[in-house]
Amino acid sequence: MSSQKKFYIETYGCQMNFADSEIVNAILMDEGMQAVTEAELADIILVNTCSIRENAETKVWNRLKEFRGLKSQKESLTVGVLGCMAERIKDQIIEEEQLVDIVVGPDAYRDIPRLIEEVEDGRKAVNVLLSLEETYADIAPVRTTGNGVSAFVSIMRGCDNMCSFCVVPFTRGRERSRPIESILTEIQKLSDEGYKEVTLLGQNVNSYKDGLNTFTTLMDRASRINPEIRFRFSSPHPKDFPDDLLYLIAERPNLCNYIHIPAQAGSDSMLERMRRPYTRDQYLALIQKMKSIIPGCSLSTDIIAGFCGETEEEHQQTLSLMKEVEYDLAYMFAYSERERTLAYRKFEDDVPEEVKKRRLSEIISQQMSIQHSRNKAEIGNRHIVLVEGTSKRSEDQLSGRTDTNKMVVFDRKDFVRGDYVEVEITDCTSATLRAIPIGKTTLSEYYSESVHS
Ligand code: SAH
Ligand code: SF4
Ligand code: F3S
Repeated sequence: MSSQKKFYIETYGCQMNFADSEIVNAILMDEGMQAVTEAELADIILVNTCSIRENAETKVWNRLKEFRGLKSQKESLTVGVLGCMAERIKDQIIEEEQLVDIVVGPDAYRDIPRLIEEVEDGRKAVNVLLSLEETYADIAPVRTTGNGVSAFVSIMRGCDNMCSFCVVPFTRGRERSRPIESILTEIQKLSDEGYKEVTLLGQNVNSYKDGLNTFTTLMDRASRINPEIRFRFSSPHPKDFPDDLLYLIAERPNLCNYIHIPAQAGSDSMLERMRRPYTRDQYLALIQKMKSIIPGCSLSTDIIAGFCGETEEEHQQTLSLMKEVEYDLAYMFAYSERERTLAYRKFEDDVPEEVKKRRLSEIISQQMSIQHSRNKAEIGNRHIVLVEGTSKRSEDQLSGRTDTNKMVVFDRKDFVRGDYVEVEITDCTSATLRAIPIGKTTLSEYYSESVHS
């Protein structure tokens, strides 16, 4: 009997994984199981895993070893691996390790209750089949860990791009979009529950396509559901940025003026080896277009240092691209070779570790100084901030984000989580803005004053 069982999910990796854990919550709670927030209290521990880089996997392996310790104290404990490592761990589990009982790939979560039963019969249970259709469209995610203000909504799954360094197409399978009506229904529900911010998610979120409905159609319809809910999206790909999408973002107050636009590298030769379908010039032209169509738009990116064959000259071009664009935020990584990828099969991971590290730290330090000066330029500006909660540093301070996705900290006064507050920026670091609150506002009110729009 699996009813009344307590389960605990620990999630690693990207926002898609966090959204998936909410789907798994729904599936297990529908079976009468109870979610708990501590591993020690659980009968079933599920780890939703990430394979994107070696260190992401190492973290999970270490955690699984800790759970084996718990298992030795509590024989009935079931430990499962979900997500992107499932495909890889499958063989290990069968061959050697006594670490886990269940292995479930990202498209097989509906099967978890059956797999749990199988384990109760004393077997190991594995389902890592990838699907061409599964989008979990009919499952209403159960958001047990969020702040009640911001929610993630998955709109598509998988990836067909096959960037040569990336394992995602192998762990998550083919690209497929969720029917538009089920997305809009979920957003309506979030609106009814008082959510104020929705992030639309997919590995190529702007490649969304449901019949004639494109990502632009979806953004248009979603943003009309409630003008007080603001929308973000992650991660888009530079190849799918039609002008009408940029104009829509510019014109609609509740579509945030913030775009994550992963470049990965700054030279044509690297972009080609990475199988990114654009040149440096094309990428920069798109950035220019974004900046001119959406004035004040903030931009962030992903960058990889030390990819196969990277020369010093190519590295310099990455630095110069980042300098030219002046991103407000960047996620920067040292290249980590992944099995099965094209790069693994075709190229040599030949940039020495210390060179990768040095290049990465050059990239990071340049970016920190750009961020600092961009943040300094914000001093004296006004912004509308959605309060997410208490600041990490002080009980007397609140924190939230601007429309442009910058973290702002200011005095609590009598504002509460979920309020929109107009603030004036007074100080900054490279990561955070400090502000004085002007007063509570709404999106419609704030943007109807022409000075802000
Ligand atoms: N689908 C998204 C993000 C995928 S993973 C996109 O295309 O933008 C997030 C980031 O991890 C990637 O953008 C890339 O910068 C980085 N990444 C992916 N594979 C990597 C690898 N093998 N080594 C280092 N970084 C990697
Ligand atoms: Fe990976 Fe490229 Fe797909 Fe992003 S677009 S998930 S980097 S293969
Ligand atoms: Fe990691 Fe899988 Fe996301 S590899 S980054 S959890 S898609």
